[in-house]
Amino acid sequence: MFHLIVCALSQRLKFSDRNMLEDKANPRCSTLILVFLLLVLITDVISVSGNSVNTDRKILLNLKSFLEKQNRVNRGRYSEWNQGSSNPCKWHGISCSPDMQRVTGIDLSDSKISGEMFNNFSAFTQLQRLDLSRNTLKGVVPDDLNSCHSLVYLNLSHNILGGELKLTGLTSLQKLDLSTNRFHGEVSFSFPAICNRLVVANLSMNHFSGRIDKLFDGCLNLQYLDLSSNKFTGNIWTGFSRLVEFSVSENLVTGPVPASSFSENCTLKSLDLSVNKFRGEVPREISNCKNLVMLNLWGNKFSGPIPSELGSISTLEGLLLGDNSFSRVIPESLLNLRNLAILDLSMNKFGGEMQEVFGRFKQLKSLVLQGNSYTDGLSSSGVHKLTNLSRLDLSYNNFSGPLLAEISQMVGLKFLVLAYNQFTGAIPPEYGDLSQLQALDLSFNRLVGSIPPSIGNLRSLLWLMLANNSLTGEIPGELGNCRSLLWLNLANNQLSGRFPHELTNIGRNPTPTFESNRKSNPMISSPSNCLVTKRLLTIDYSPFGFIYTILTRKICRNIWDQLLQGYGFFQVCVKGSPVRKYRVSGYLQLSGNRFSGEVPSGIGKMQHLSVLHLSYNQFTGKLPTEIGNLPLVVLNISSNKFSGQIPMGIGNLNCLQNLDLSQNEFSGTFPGNLNSLNELCKFNISFNPQMGGKIPDIGQSATFEEESYLGNPLLQSRVFKWQEVENGSKSGEEGFWWKAVLMEHGCGLTWGMVMLYVCVKRFDPKWAMNKVEAMLRPLNKINASSSRGGRGRGRGRGRGRRIY
Ligand SMILES: *[C@@H]1O[C@H](CO)[C@@H](O)[C@H](O)[C@H]1NC(C)=O
Ligand SMILES: *[C@@H]1O[C@H](CO)[C@@H](O)[C@H](O)[C@H]1NC(C)=O
Ligand SMILES: *[C@@H]1O[C@H](CO)[C@@H](O)[C@H](O)[C@H]1NC(C)=O
Ligand SMILES: *[C@@H]1O[C@H](CO)[C@@H](O)[C@H](O)[C@H]1NC(C)=O
Ligand SMILES: *[C@@H]1O[C@H](CO)[C@@H](O)[C@H](O)[C@H]1NC(C)=O
Ligand SMILES: *[C@@H]1O[C@H](CO)[C@@H](O)[C@H](O)[C@H]1NC(C)=O
Ligand SMILES: *[C@@H]1O[C@H](CO)[C@@H](O)[C@H](O)[C@H]1NC(C)=O
Ligand SMILES: *[C@@H]1O[C@H](CO)[C@@H](O)[C@H](O)[C@H]1NC(C)=O
Repeated sequence: MFHLIVCALSQRLKFSDRNMLEDKANPRCSTLILVFLLLVLITDVISVSGNSVNTDRKILLNLKSFLEKQNRVNRGRYSEWNQGSSNPCKWHGISCSPDMQRVTGIDLSDSKISGEMFNNFSAFTQLQRLDLSRNTLKGVVPDDLNSCHSLVYLNLSHNILGGELKLTGLTSLQKLDLSTNRFHGEVSFSFPAICNRLVVANLSMNHFSGRIDKLFDGCLNLQYLDLSSNKFTGNIWTGFSRLVEFSVSENLVTGPVPASSFSENCTLKSLDLSVNKFRGEVPREISNCKNLVMLNLWGNKFSGPIPSELGSISTLEGLLLGDNSFSRVIPESLLNLRNLAILDLSMNKFGGEMQEVFGRFKQLKSLVLQGNSYTDGLSSSGVHKLTNLSRLDLSYNNFSGPLLAEISQMVGLKFLVLAYNQFTGAIPPEYGDLSQLQALDLSFNRLVGSIPPSIGNLRSLLWLMLANNSLTGEIPGELGNCRSLLWLNLANNQLSGRFPHELTNIGRNPTPTFESNRKSNPMISSPSNCLVTKRLLTIDYSPFGFIYTILTRKICRNIWDQLLQGYGFFQVCVKGSPVRKYRVSGYLQLSGNRFSGEVPSGIGKMQHLSVLHLSYNQFTGKLPTEIGNLPLVVLNISSNKFSGQIPMGIGNLNCLQNLDLSQNEFSGTFPGNLNSLNELCKFNISFNPQMGGKIPDIGQSATFEEESYLGNPLLQSRVFKWQEVENGSKSGEEGFWWKAVLMEHGCGLTWGMVMLYVCVKRFDPKWAMNKVEAMLRPLNKINASSSRGGRGRGRGRGRGRRIY
């Protein structure tokens, strides 16, 4: 920073020096400057005489220089203002009145602006639209804004603005978007003060608090009100039924929802009360809302019957009632809902056999019953006859018996999630007929037999999750035909045989699947998906592990959508490129089986592979050098029989965070270039008794403790004096603290994530969410931060990598 300022200053000095020289050399020049100054003076005099486009122009130029002062490096298109044309109405982001006499709109959204808000917007006396969304504005909203009495549209969303909200003066406002910021305190200063004409208000994703029960009574024009993801308390505002959309999701609102709040002329299309503390019964008067499309009551303490009157709301498409305590009877009237596509009744403590009525919801596209206590098989309910279903999630129940082969007739199925049950028997080969399938999750059951080769027919399959069963036999080579398969988890089974070379073809070309997902309308996603997302993403370790701690539902949904559409959500090192890239990252998890033989060198072709787990098997031979071509973040091959020299290529895996080579039979010398893996956080090379060489005294390798180097008698180290330790000397502990400190700094992303986690826990979750949100926008940020400065030791890099 300092450097930059000095740089800018010296530039300026040089420039004026040159001007002076030129002045001396060429007297005509100074005359010209004089004339110019005179002109400027004249325009000034004219513009002072009244409000005109020239006054606005001048203030815009003030605004421009204000922005440029705060943003010296990355600038948005406002820096082009006044370059092509001197008419501000032609500048990027500026709109004017029809007579082109006044500036009426300023759009600075997504313009890389950081720093405080400009505090002279009131000088634009005709300003009607102001959009500052998607920047990094901080501090408070200046009082000056309250004098913008003409403002009709104000969008400050996606910034890091804070403080209390006091927008008392904006009496013409129709649309207000403050979402995704850090505002806090009560909103009663602004509502109903600015309610007169307000139609849209979005306060979502802030830290607002206080009661809402009476707040919006005076907002008679309000149609869309989003209060989600704040800390509002007290009882519900009962006037919501005259809106079109109302969300108070993810707050701390309590009490019953009174019947009177569903007035006879209810106009609601979407009502979202999810994740609060509502209790009591759902009033049958809800059927007054005849236009309701989406009803989300997920994650509350509602009890009693599901009102059968819901069956009269013919427009209903989504009914999310999960994570409540509704009674077990599913009203038959719901079968009448011709448009019902999504039904979520997860986590309602339903036990026994699945209710027979579910087999008759032929119209459904998504049925989520995860986390109940259902027992027995599926056939009695007839759920396999729902041929329009695209998602069936019955995970986390106690279903038992064999898997139904008939499920293969549900030809539209994209997500079949039956994990965490007690299904037995073999995987029906017929599942290979589910040509649209994108996720097949049968993990944590009691399945036996081998993986049917017909699974290889599933060209759209992205996830195949079969971990923790008792599967035997070899991996069928046909699996290599699964061109979209990026996430394969077969851990903890009794699979055997070799690593088939065909397997290196999985995930070769997922593009067609991603493209079709980009085209199709994303289904309204239910909160229950979050659990699935978490499980499909995280297999207990970095790089995905961090997500667990920071996932709110919205982030979860974003990640899910991003994954399905093939956008990466963290950066990987791509071979041959110094810049990190947001790319889809796949995993291959085969640990805890009985695989043997060599790993084929073709593995180097698996260009999406970021996590490779082969631990606890009986693989032999050399580790292929081609492994150095992969964008790996995790490599765990512990407890096998790999031998020979550790490939030098591993030292080039710059993004590697977790490397476990322990309990193998590697020989040769310790690869010194591992020392340059500055992001390595977890490292274990213990118990490779034939390996010699020397652990470098400084650098990354020296930041790990003795625990990482156990049982290697031939390995030399000056830091660990093994013999002395055995003799009872304490020298092994020396430097423990500095090592711990260095390790923290060496941990790049992971350390950043730990910081993030600490922030989430202690200080400021929304800040972290902003960061994650930013991280989730893969398309607009291959920027300076990804080229990472600091070649030297961990310190600088750790900081540079934090996800700003
Ligand atoms: C705001 O802009 C007006 C018009 O250019 C100017 O007269 C005034 O001094 C400015 N106020 C502030 C606080 O900068
Ligand atoms: C505010 O801006 C964001 C981001 O640019 C946009 O997604 C959102 O729709 C805008 N809000 C309104 C009410 O127009
Ligand atoms: C409010 O803003 C959030 C975040 O910007 C967005 O997800 C949500 O859809 C918006 N709500 C409405 C009703 O537009
Ligand atoms: C809605 O109906 C109530 C009576 O049920 C009536 O008092 C009120 O004026 C109506 N509101 C609108 C917007 O029509
Ligand atoms: C199944 O879906 C199709 C297309 O989405 C729809 O036309 C059809 O009516 C649905 N079937 C039933 C029984 O609802
Ligand atoms: C998964 O399988 C492994 C090995 O078979 C076992 O140790 C572990 O307990 C299983 N985990 C669960 C949650 O069942
Ligand atoms: C490697 O995998 C094994 C088995 O899953 C695990 O116990 C070990 O902690 C992993 N190693 C590292 C460094 O994470
Ligand atoms: C490395 O692996 C060995 C053997 O599996 C284990 O005893 C040791 O604790 C591990 N070290 C670390 C740092 O995890």
